Amino acid sequence: MLKIAVLVSGGGTNLQAILDAIDNGTITNAKVEVVISNNKNAYALERAKKHGIENLCISPRDFASREEFNDVFLEKLNSYNVDLVVLAGFLVVIPEKMIQAYRNRIINIHPSLIPSFCGTGYYGLKVHEGVLARGVKVTGATVHFVDEGTDTGPIILQKAVEVEQGDTPEVLQRRVMEQAEWVIMPKAIDLIANGHVTVEDGHVILK
Ligand code: GAR
Repeated sequence: MLKIAVLVSGGGTNLQAILDAIDNGTITNAKVEVVISNNKNAYALERAKKHGIENLCISPRDFASREEFNDVFLEKLNSYNVDLVVLAGFLVVIPEKMIQAYRNRIINIHPSLIPSFCGTGYYGLKVHEGVLARGVKVTGATVHFVDEGTDTGPIILQKAVEVEQGDTPEVLQRRVMEQAEWVIMPKAIDLIANGHVTVEDGHVILK
C-alpha cells in the first residue's frame, strides 16, 4: 500500500479528485496518510477533515526564517513515513533538502503542457492568462516528478485541452481542471502505486 502525503495551498479540487479516485477504485493500492497546507484558510484542509484524514497547517509566517520553516516542514513530513509526496496546488518552493530526501518520490500537477507556460511566475490563474495572451489553441496539464528546477522534472503524464473562442482565464482554468488535471493526477498516482513508473536517464518509463 503506497502511503501518500498531499501538500496543498488552496481550494483542493485536485486533492478531492485523488480522494474520490481512491474511494471509487480508480486508484488502487494507495492511501492518503496526511494533508499538509502552508495556509490555514485553505479549503483543502476542510476537504481532508470531511474525509477523516489527518490534516495540519505549517505556515512560513510562524517562523523567523525560511530555513527554519523548511526544517520543521521536512521533519513533520518525515514523521509520516510516506512513500509519495503529491503537490496538489502547493505554492511553496520545495527546498533542495526535501527534493534530495524524496528523489523521484515527489510529484506535481502543473496546469499547462510543459515546457509551455511553466517556470517561475507561472502558477494558478497566471498560467491561463499567459495561454490566452499568447493565443495558443491547445493547452492542458502535466504531472511530473519534482527536481531542483521549477517545473523541469521528468514528465509522467500530459493531457491536452482545447482553448475556445471567448475563454476567460477562469473558464479555461475550470476546463483544464475537469478535462485534464482531475484525470491525469489520479491516473499517475495509480500507475506509481502499482509499480508502473520508473525513471531512467531523467525520463519516465511507463510499464
Ligand atoms: C491547480 O490548477 C494546479 O494545477 C495549480 O494550482 C491549482 C490548484 O487547485 N498548480 C500550479 O499552478 C503549480 N505551479 P486546487 O487547489 O483546486 O487543486
